[in-house]
Amino acid sequence: MKNNQSERKKSALPFRINKQSFLGVLSLIFQELIDRLLTKFHFRLPKEEEVLRRVRKNAIANDPSSVLKIIDDFAYKKTFLMNIGDEKGLILEKAINDSNAKNILELGVYLGYSTIRILRNLDNYSKLTSIESNKKFAEIAKEHIKISGLSENHELLIGKTTQIIPTLEEKFDFIFIDHWKDLYLEDLKMLERKKLIKHNAWIFADNVILFNLEDYLGYVRSSPNYQSKFISTKREYSKSHPDGIEISIFKDEI
Ligand SMILES: C[S@@+](CC[C@H](N)C(=O)[O-])C[C@H]1O[C@@H](n2cnc3c(N)ncnc32)[C@H](O)[C@@H]1O
Repeated sequence: MKNNQSERKKSALPFRINKQSFLGVLSLIFQELIDRLLTKFHFRLPKEEEVLRRVRKNAIANDPSSVLKIIDDFAYKKTFLMNIGDEKGLILEKAINDSNAKNILELGVYLGYSTIRILRNLDNYSKLTSIESNKKFAEIAKEHIKISGLSENHELLIGKTTQIIPTLEEKFDFIFIDHWKDLYLEDLKMLERKKLIKHNAWIFADNVILFNLEDYLGYVRSSPNYQSKFISTKREYSKSHPDGIEISIFKDEI
């Protein structure tokens, strides 16, 4: 790893996208532009509002699986949604259980899909704090979580991670990182500086291959403070585009 990689200019999508996924992601961006045009001229609801409409209409109250299924079906059959998806979502749930985490932090909520997957695995003594900068997405997520019957152990903070992290006071034993990719390393370092990461905490980072996150991977793999392992996956809602998850265990005492 070059030393200056973590300081490189923040790049715009799609130029950091994994080569094997490049065309696929370009087609998603094209789809997104068409979607925005159609919503701008009121031909259809924004896709996130359409998902909420379907959840309101078809989900079974207090049944998280029914909410997740409606969201997954929409992403597979209608338009791409940037949730962690069903394949990586199961890996996230297994990690939550294996880590026995009690105090979890989530960076990037979108429609609350991963939030629901985390919350449905928590007992009464555990809690999740999530941060989302987009107010509209946060409102939709809140409603999805409420319909799932999972609002109890959850706090959703609306704002940018860079502003909210410095206000947090408790240490976390599981951190799920899934917001804008250029912030993964910056925010991890901020969490370290603020001493918000417990010894043996799990740091679970999504999309590390899709977005070529070499700076983040270089850091957690070379730092003596982390024991890091990689899980190879496909990108959400794709059978062919490569992606991966990095799970790094924080060793505070080294
Ligand atoms: C990939 S989506 C999250 C998907 C979600 N974790 C899931 O799997 O269902 C990324 C989200 O991060 C939010 N986001 C981006 N930058 C952020 C920041 N600096 N602070 C808080 N949220 C941010 C975006 O608005 C977007 O909703």
